[in-house]
Amino acid sequence: MFLTHASKSGSIKDAGRRQVSTFGHRLIGVALVVVSVTAVALAQAKVQVSVAAAKAGARIDRNIFGQFAEHLGHGVYEGIWVGPDSKIPNTRGIRNDVVAALKAVKVPNVRWPGGCFADEYHWRKGVGRERVVTLNPNWGGVTEPNSFGTHEFMDFLDQIGAEAYLSVNVGSGSPQEAAEWLEYLTTPQATTLQKERAANGHPAPYRIAYLGIGNESWDCGGNMTPDYYLSQLKIYSRFVRNFNPSQQGNQQMLKIAVGPGGGEPRFVEWTEAVMKAWQNHPWSWDMNGLSMHNYTVVRWPPAYASVGFGEAEYSQILKSTLEMEGLISKYSAIMDQYDPQKKIALVVDEWGAWYAPLPGSTPGFLVQQNSLRDAILAALNLNIFARHAERVRMANIAQMINVLQAMIMTDKEKMVLTPTYHVFKMYAPFQDSTFVPVTFNAGAYTHDNITLPRVDAIAAKDKAGKLWLAITNVDANEAVEVEASLVGIKAGAVTGETLTAPRVDSVNTFDAPNTVRPQPTSAKVQSGKLTVKLEPKSVTVISVEQ
Ligand code: AHR
Repeated sequence: MFLTHASKSGSIKDAGRRQVSTFGHRLIGVALVVVSVTAVALAQAKVQVSVAAAKAGARIDRNIFGQFAEHLGHGVYEGIWVGPDSKIPNTRGIRNDVVAALKAVKVPNVRWPGGCFADEYHWRKGVGRERVVTLNPNWGGVTEPNSFGTHEFMDFLDQIGAEAYLSVNVGSGSPQEAAEWLEYLTTPQATTLQKERAANGHPAPYRIAYLGIGNESWDCGGNMTPDYYLSQLKIYSRFVRNFNPSQQGNQQMLKIAVGPGGGEPRFVEWTEAVMKAWQNHPWSWDMNGLSMHNYTVVRWPPAYASVGFGEAEYSQILKSTLEMEGLISKYSAIMDQYDPQKKIALVVDEWGAWYAPLPGSTPGFLVQQNSLRDAILAALNLNIFARHAERVRMANIAQMINVLQAMIMTDKEKMVLTPTYHVFKMYAPFQDSTFVPVTFNAGAYTHDNITLPRVDAIAAKDKAGKLWLAITNVDANEAVEVEASLVGIKAGAVTGETLTAPRVDSVNTFDAPNTVRPQPTSAKVQSGKLTVKLEPKSVTVISVEQ
């Protein structure tokens, strides 16, 4: 038995419909972007961009480039874990090729073990010499060997240099089970659980940076009402403690509550209830983040193909992905009412494209290809997160390897980097950079009855003072000449990369892994003006020394 999202989330489907119909209104909310459909003809030749390089906005938190690895299909088993006896080169069972690729994109955090899986995960079955074989009823009904458990996950994080974002089991677990997991992981004191951890190879306490309290508790996580969930949240928040001495005070583990999964009234009600309770919370419980899930799917069950599609599906999917802007604005506004100081982060800990499964793939494994369309989709979402950097301080694309909008695909000893991977690598300099305001006339790209902003751009300054500009040309057919005035800096050397490919549905495969890969740009700076030609359907990232 496996979960079908047709039954799982009719509400998300409805939300999608509603968001599509209000698309025009959402665009108005895009900060600092002026979309002039009437100026299409003018905009097509040249796009004027103004970068207020001396002005500083919010910090673009590195955690918006977070990943999600669920026990689902070949996401963990085969994607990360091959076991120490595998012929595939590995370190303590973890694939070396995958680790090297992930290190190169500077993954800040990994959310694990789910997803829906988390609410049926019992950590004790995944520690020690003898692992209990269980089932994974959510995802294909396959057996779960539990060979990748707590220590293997923490080892993997150590190898790639990322922080842990653990989702604890609220649905079918107990506060005691979760509290004991955290004690096992974090206590330095000689408790029985600490001794067990030491006997299992790790005497020192682990660092757990983020704790998710439940997953989609309004649906696969237990179908709870807001009030029921709130009672659980308060108990888990109080008793699931982190004892690591280095994580007290300012460095404390951040707790993330379940938030909305779409725009419908029930999610508004949920968000209001959680935020209102937090506003008046006593000392005995707290939270630091509110999760939001939003997939680009158009309708449930996912029906769009991930390969072999044309411009109609390209423009429809990108139209759908831009709904992220409206959802974030909607929930930010609600959060502002209860938390005007923006203490609580909006954590978009599941996002990305969800297409029809590849024909012939295992049901429930959520296998799809990743094309140039997904690279553009990723850039547009990262730009939205950056523009909302004050509130959106963490996000996790679903999912890291072999599942949904993956960074990496593997097949036995083979590995291929997807177009989405390349965008994450190109955007890595934006991690912990400072947002810089950009204004531009986006112009319009129209295919059939769909009109989208043609160009999207963000800018930021890194810690060394270098200016970074990311510009996407959504137009599938027309190149764009960009002329950017860099106000407030003396521009020096310019370098950059652009990611494009012959077709909107171009993909990287094990046999042809470089069809979609970054190439040097044509960007130049003269008299304070940066010029660059954006190829059709491309993502470009440029750095400017000053
Ligand atoms: O990412 C796949 C699934 O989508 C997750 O398990 C669940 O949280 C969401 O519905």
